[in-house]
Amino acid sequence: MKVLVVGSGGREHALVWKLSQSSRVDKIFCAPGNAGIAETAECVEINAEDIEGLLNFAKYEGIDLTVVGPEAPLTKGIVDAFVKEGRRIFGPDSSAARLEGSKVFAKDFMLKYGIPTAEYKTFTSYLHAEEYIRLKGAPIVIKADGLAAGKGVVVAENMDDAIKALRMIMKDRVFGDAGERVVVEQCLKGEEASFMVLIDGKTVLPLASSQDHKRVFDNDQGPNTGGMGAYSPAPVISRRVKTRIMDSIINPLMKGLKRERINYRGVLYLGLMICDGRPYVLEFNCRFGDPEAQPVLMRLNTDLFDALKATAEGRLREIKLRWRRDASVCVVLASSGYPGKYEKGKLIKGLEALKDRDDIVVFHAGTDIDNDGNFITSGGRVLGVTALGRDIKAAKENAYKAIKKIRFEGMHYRKDIADKAIKRG
Ligand code: AMP
Ligand code: GLY
Repeated sequence: MKVLVVGSGGREHALVWKLSQSSRVDKIFCAPGNAGIAETAECVEINAEDIEGLLNFAKYEGIDLTVVGPEAPLTKGIVDAFVKEGRRIFGPDSSAARLEGSKVFAKDFMLKYGIPTAEYKTFTSYLHAEEYIRLKGAPIVIKADGLAAGKGVVVAENMDDAIKALRMIMKDRVFGDAGERVVVEQCLKGEEASFMVLIDGKTVLPLASSQDHKRVFDNDQGPNTGGMGAYSPAPVISRRVKTRIMDSIINPLMKGLKRERINYRGVLYLGLMICDGRPYVLEFNCRFGDPEAQPVLMRLNTDLFDALKATAEGRLREIKLRWRRDASVCVVLASSGYPGKYEKGKLIKGLEALKDRDDIVVFHAGTDIDNDGNFITSGGRVLGVTALGRDIKAAKENAYKAIKKIRFEGMHYRKDIADKAIKRG
């Protein structure tokens, strides 16, 4: 079978890595991919949002399954276009992807179907939004409605920051049309966790739980990033919390999708806040989390190709997912300056030493090859060093030991990935 993976980050590298272990997969292409992915898949120079180009390529190559990594092509209708032409593809169509593509849609959906989430109000008028923010007081959360590359949410600790955020989104339009509407919501206090499920329209299959680290510095300080590291499983999602997620979130969600005639096929990511053992939805994503996909897929003991193909075909009932007992920890190595401005083209040293290890995989996120064939940096998040261990503590030690071998100019990373889980015991 031939597979095409769409995207170019650590998540896509993890997908390619896991898919390549399937005995059913003969060849993997990745568009556009990166230097690490190129060691396993054939990278093709098609942009992840060039739907027509990707469809033409899939037809020309006779691709059996296309797997979409990032959200942008999903909200733009890549699945609709492939399905129309009778091509098998993993991911939700544009109507289902609105759960991520529009925060207003997602919040209204949750309210309508009784899914626990922060109290909120939606605004198209700057003045009304400002009035409401002043009435509610800080801390308060301001969210641009549309996609903003993960930067459209501000958790404002004081009134000044809240008004500044509202101005930036609605007046300065730094996210363009994504800021035409805003959601203003109550700030929830608790511990965050990520919970992903495969959905084939009818059947729901949970993946192993995980936890991301959004802030750039240790102890959750500094600005938000795409994610500086993640581990799996997340102890905050105890058996009891998981039952609550299934009962209070997934069940009403499936009922709502059916009622709204939304045929969700793909992976749905729940960004959760666990408050006193009760899960609340902060956000839906219509794709695998990144970096969460890296530690989660490292623990998967089932053929990923079978699972994704079955999801696309509505046969998820036939699949059982098995997980390694081992825990996993992924630490992201980032370029100097990230999540702000950063330089590219820095030589990456030490990767050779970690090759062919079963317990460590270095997933590439932003890497390229220079003219001499060396790995160089080409993005903000550069590598995801992902390690297994008999428990989270052992996996953490394993990951940080591996990192000691890797160097590039300006490299920075958090030193406290997974500490929350270790403290929990
Ligand atoms: P989102 O993209 O909606 O997940 O928001 C990004 C980040 O903002 C989340 O991972 C949380 O850390 C934070 N956040 C979002 N909504 C809330 C909320 N209602 N209360 C507290 N923190 C939030
Ligand atoms: N790591 C958070 C996300 O993928 O949205």
